[in-house]
Amino acid sequence: MPLIKSENWSAVDQYLASHLIHADEDLNFVLSACDEAGLPRQSVSALQGKFLNLLVKLKGAKRILEIGTLGGYSAIWLASALPQGGRLITLEYNPLHLSTASMNLKKVGLLEKVTCRLGRAADSLQKLIDEKVEPFDMIFIDADKPNYPTYLELSLKLTKPGTLIVLDNMIREGTILEMESRATGVVGRRKTVELISQNPRLKATSLQTVGEKGHDGFVFALVE
Ligand code: SAH
Ligand code: DHB
Ligand code: MG
Repeated sequence: MPLIKSENWSAVDQYLASHLIHADEDLNFVLSACDEAGLPRQSVSALQGKFLNLLVKLKGAKRILEIGTLGGYSAIWLASALPQGGRLITLEYNPLHLSTASMNLKKVGLLEKVTCRLGRAADSLQKLIDEKVEPFDMIFIDADKPNYPTYLELSLKLTKPGTLIVLDNMIREGTILEMESRATGVVGRRKTVELISQNPRLKATSLQTVGEKGHDGFVFALVE
């Protein structure tokens, strides 16, 4: 059997996206705007964005929290699946990222469904807890990996039974296995898996992914 090479992963992603993502869903102009603003290429892929979009619809989510906005690409996939009156709150500490996101959200007419909060995500999460906001139906954790354990623990205070927590970039080329690593991203992601596994309120699984973003994967945790 021929070796399946990683060079194929992007081509397969592109083939699938060209068929499954329709013209009216094509958000490549958002990625171009992110490039033009000089943002790092850290947005989810189109197929992953559509996956998040379908999850929102499957859950019938009305309130979504996103941690890590960047240029608003995943925020647009999430918010465009919300019903009328639905809301997404997205947290970002980089003003250039957030202003790019606002511009992109405005372009697609989603600004009224989305609230962007500027500041360190841990601070913004604590503020949301202090404000006693209504719990969220879905939470997408996608900011700095060393702080994932903090984001998970604070996020849990903003959940109710049935809340779905989705964590991006949990596998990163298999580096999650590097037990001896002192790289904080690895420590943070391994600690997050431990916290999830030890929490009796959480029922969780993971899906590894390959594609244009390389080898990575999501963890999903359902609050019971
Ligand atoms: N969800 C986005 C990608 C997010 S990339 C998408 O898929 O389109 C990660 C983002 O987290 C970056 O914009 C980065 O500036 C932000 N970030 C990193 N550390 C942060 C922190 N401590 N508080 C808030 N945002 C942070
Ligand atoms: C990268 C990718 C991401 O999805 C992210 O959230 C942060 C960084 C990366 O490719 O470096
Ligand atoms: Mg990510």
